[in-house]
Formats: sequence, C-alpha cells, structure tokens
Amino acid sequence: MNKASIFAAWNVLVMLATAGLAVYIPLDIIVPEAVNQFSLLYWAINLIFFADIPICYWATNEDSAGNDGINSNALIGHRRWLLTDIVAAVPIEVLTGNPYLRLLRLVKLLKIRNFMRFYLKREVKYNYPLTILFFIYWVALCSHWLSAGWLAMIGLQSELSFASNYIRSLYWVVTTLTSVGYGDIVPTTDGEYLYSMFVQIIGIGVLGYIVGNVAGFLTRKDPATVKYGENMDRLSALVRYRGLPKELQDKINFYYTYQWKKRSGYDEAKFLKGLPDNLSREVSLHLKNEVLEKIFLFQDASQEFIDEIALHLSPVVLTPNDVLFREGDDGDAMYFVLSGELVAVDKHQEKEFATFSDGDFFGEMALFKKEPRSATMISKTYSDLYKLDKKIFDRIMEHYPRVAKKIVAKAMARDKEHRNTAQR
Ligand code: CMP
Repeated sequence: MNKASIFAAWNVLVMLATAGLAVYIPLDIIVPEAVNQFSLLYWAINLIFFADIPICYWATNEDSAGNDGINSNALIGHRRWLLTDIVAAVPIEVLTGNPYLRLLRLVKLLKIRNFMRFYLKREVKYNYPLTILFFIYWVALCSHWLSAGWLAMIGLQSELSFASNYIRSLYWVVTTLTSVGYGDIVPTTDGEYLYSMFVQIIGIGVLGYIVGNVAGFLTRKDPATVKYGENMDRLSALVRYRGLPKELQDKINFYYTYQWKKRSGYDEAKFLKGLPDNLSREVSLHLKNEVLEKIFLFQDASQEFIDEIALHLSPVVLTPNDVLFREGDDGDAMYFVLSGELVAVDKHQEKEFATFSDGDFFGEMALFKKEPRSATMISKTYSDLYKLDKKIFDRIMEHYPRVAKKIVAKAMARDKEHRNTAQR
C-alpha cells in the first residue's frame, strides 16, 4: 500500500467518523438521556479528529510534487484545512461550558465534501458508484437532521421507546421528502406546518438532483453504444433518402453490430490525437500490447521497434466475403491478422494460394518487391486486422534489420510458392 492509498483509507475513516458525529450531536442536544450511552463513541471520534491533524500534515509535507505529478495528498489534506481540523478537534464545549458549540465540530463536513469532489474527479472508472455512494451519504445525513428537527418540534411520545419515536420521525421525513405524504402523521401547530413546508421544499431539491444527476448517470451509455446508435441512425437516414438494396443494408448493419460487440466502435485514434506525443505513445502501446504479442513477426522484436510500430497500426474490420484488395492493385500497406480468417486467391477466384488467421501477416510482397498485388484477398469471416502503411513499412526495412530479415525471408518463400501454384 502506498502513501496515497493509506491516506485515502484514513480519509474514509474520517468520513465515517464525521457522519457518526453528525448523527450523534443533534440527538444529544435534543434528547441527551436517550443517547448518553454513546458518549464514549463521541470521544473516540474526537481522538480520530485529533489524529487527523498530524496525519494530514504527514501526508502533505514531503514530495509535494508527488510521484504521479498530481499529488493527491496535497489536494485533499492541504494545509488550508488545518484550521478546520483544529476547530473540529478542540473540545470547545468543555472549554466554554456551552454544549451547543459542539455543532462547530461539524465544519469537518466541509473537508469531507472536498474529499468527495477530489475522488469523483480522480477515480474516473468508479465515478458512477462513487457519485451514488456520496449522494446516499448526504441524503442519509440530511434525513437524520430533519428527523431530529421534527422530534424536537413534536416532542417524544412517552409511551414509545426512543427508537420507535425516532423511526416514526424518520418515516415522516422520508414520506414528506419524497412527496408521498400519507397523512398519517400531520403537523398540528403553526411551527410544525412551517417546518413541513420547509421539508417539502428540500424534497423538491433532492428529487431534482436525482432526476438531473443520478438518473443521468444510471442511463448514460458507454461510448461504443452511443457510436453504434449514431451509426444506425445515419444508416436509416441513408436508406430513407437514397434507398439502398436490402443486402447492402444488412451488410452495413452487421458491420456496425460487430464493431459494437467488439467495443471498438468509438474512435480510439481520435482520442489519442488529443494527447501530447509521449503520452499518446504510451497509451497506444498499452492498448495494443496484448494484440502485438499475438503476432508472430513481433515476438522477439526489440521494445524500441514495438514502441514505434504501436503508434502506426490502424484497425481495419472486415465482414464475411469482403474483398480487401484485388490482384494487380497497387500495394499501399501490409496487414496483421488479430482475429478472423482470410484467403488469398487469383483474380478469377479459381486458385487458392494461402489462408491467413490469428497472428499472421500478409500484403508484404507488393511492398517489398515494389510490384502490384500478387493475389486477391477475401475475408471469409469477420476479421480484425491492423494495417501498416507503406511509408512506415519502408522505415522498418531501413531501421530494424532483424525484423526486415524475417519479412524478406517470408516474402521470398511465399513468392516462390506463389509462382509454383500460379503455374499449376
Ligand atoms: P501481396 O502480393 O502484397 O498481396 C497478396 C498477399 O498474399 C501477398 O502479398 C502475400 O502476403 C500473400 N500471398 C500471396 N501468395 C501467397 C502464397 N503462395 N503463400 C502465402 N502467402 C501468399
């Protein structure tokens, strides 16, 4: 566990402790006799608050630039929270004899809010669950405070236990906040009516927040699905305005569905273009590393070569029976097969030269020999390929002799076999 994760775990503990205090203090002010058995917990939390001061200091004092360049510690436990930490920790009610001053300890909630904001921005992957978790935290605390307020207004029913009183009060808050209002518990005095209106208005705010944010999060789609929807809309517009044969419509439809299933529908290349060169190189390498390992040509290539090539491979998807290129075409690229099956045939599609599947490469002969394509390439299944442009191919031949040697050997052997098959 590194320093940042220890500090994050500590902050979660502080968050829970603060919630405990935010629950306890209002009840202790309203009905001290009902909660006095928890006073030990109150002082334990106080100790946590005291410990929080040196811990925040420890987390933020050294390496203020941080290894990751962001320095999470400095942002959350920044010294600007020092005053807040001190106010929350000092037992001011003991010093002054005024029990209401305990409420000042709840300033710690401001720091908690900052902690949550920071993690929402930082933990991109867990953004949705965190948003919901934090939302529950605040709604639970608000409901508790409103329940405590309602209890203070109507007073305790002596024939019921404190727990039953509290549950009834919480029930009233929840039904009022959610605008359900069964009417089984109703205000009787002017003060209670005013308080009810206040809770109803807060309820509108909470519902508005749920509709605007939480519901939005829950229904938000991933980029591949959004792209799939856009593509399908475009297809149906094209069919409507220009008319397309059913067969072609199905082909396009299958193509997009395949892309969506493979989660490759959104444009990775566009995203990478938005990053500075070195970062784009790193991300690209990370994304392609797994697939590059599958390609036999790259298996014992140098890291320098892998780094370079990762940047220049662009994805190509083919549907069954797609023709990638034809015999006699100019060769502008070579291809690597990630998955699928392709077949090289003569231009009349009578002779079959070779088939290619996962990990193979082809299309190198035209580039190496600077001649037109020796065969027509047809995809038999859905195929995922990586394309390497001629310009980069030429660079590789010049700068990476070990890989170049392998390509040349393969191209010559294939060329020989090709001639034999062609003559038959
Ligand atoms: P190119 O000529 O650029 O385009 C067709 C490709 O099919 C060719 O490069 C080779 O990569 C591949 N190819 C052609 N003939 C054969 C063969 N007999 N065996 C293996 N691969 C071949």
